[in-house]
Amino acid sequence: MSENQTQSFIINRAATSKIENIDFENLPFGSVFTDHMLYCDYKSGEWGTPVIKPYEPLTMDPSSRVFHYGQAIFEGMKAYKDENDDVWLFRPDQNLTRFNKSAVRLAMPEIPEEVFIEGLKQLINIDKAWVKKGKGNSLYLRPFMIATGHGVIAAPSGQYRFMIILSPSKAYYQGDVKVLIAEHYSRAANGGIGAAKAAANYSAQFYPTLLANKQGYQQVIWTDDATHTKLEEAGTMNIFFRINDTLYTAPTSERILDGVTRKSIIDLAKRENITVEVRPVLVDEIIEASKNGSLKEIFGAGTAAVINPITGFSYQDTYYELPRQDNPMALDLKNKLTDIQYKLAEDTFGWTI
Ligand code: COI
Repeated sequence: MSENQTQSFIINRAATSKIENIDFENLPFGSVFTDHMLYCDYKSGEWGTPVIKPYEPLTMDPSSRVFHYGQAIFEGMKAYKDENDDVWLFRPDQNLTRFNKSAVRLAMPEIPEEVFIEGLKQLINIDKAWVKKGKGNSLYLRPFMIATGHGVIAAPSGQYRFMIILSPSKAYYQGDVKVLIAEHYSRAANGGIGAAKAAANYSAQFYPTLLANKQGYQQVIWTDDATHTKLEEAGTMNIFFRINDTLYTAPTSERILDGVTRKSIIDLAKRENITVEVRPVLVDEIIEASKNGSLKEIFGAGTAAVINPITGFSYQDTYYELPRQDNPMALDLKNKLTDIQYKLAEDTFGWTI
């Protein structure tokens, strides 16, 4: 199939639905999946016909490259249901573009738009009942691609599987988030895969995050690998700092993911006449701002968590508590963003489809 060819899908519907057994009020993030999944296989230089079928385990050869060399990428997206029962996607073109950039960086084939976007639409339409109404409810969409070619030679696979699975979700983080600024470990390095949404970027965080958890911190704020003086990301999210009434966030780079929520917040904040400075943010200046009272807020931004306020941070064994705000900018921006996503406010940006 060429990249522009109109796509047809093979669709096998589940005979029964699991939905009646799901407690939608108690859903740990990403733990329950809908009735159907999509897959599309790539071999001999071509993508095959996408298939939508009942959600089920995969059978794979143990020598599949993904198990040995981690050749795997993914996206995180959400679908939202409005008051008229219509389901909306948020800037899916941005996820497609990033997915294909990740694919190139991991020496994987790019996915045609018809498979990614039309596949999402078809799959969500079939499992539409799983998207619940009301702010805070959404369907988390997980497109991903794995190397399925056999053999443990350390070289790109000749075969890949693209898949989409869907998970009804509520909040990603519960309660207060205290973070530890990384002084030794790094999420990414120049020339590495930090800008790609590669599975390995996330598994590499698990160990330093566990160490932080043991000290009572939920996440790590990642600093640059060379000097550990620049604040770059928070856990699995991009990071924003409010000093007085200006928002600061690091520029995207080879080390920093080009987050869709991040860029949407920058645009929203500018529309609200909030000054946004996209430039490297230094550990020293945040500590100084915390000491002199000008550091008002820190928050993470990502699809799963949306906007996640950080209540305090630790650096070199000193804990810095953030002041409570009567009208936090994080909450205001979160409301404005989610109003657009749930179609409660006019989407002047044209982000929703
Ligand atoms: C997302 O926000 O969608 C992410 O990719 C984070 C993920 C690890 C849950």
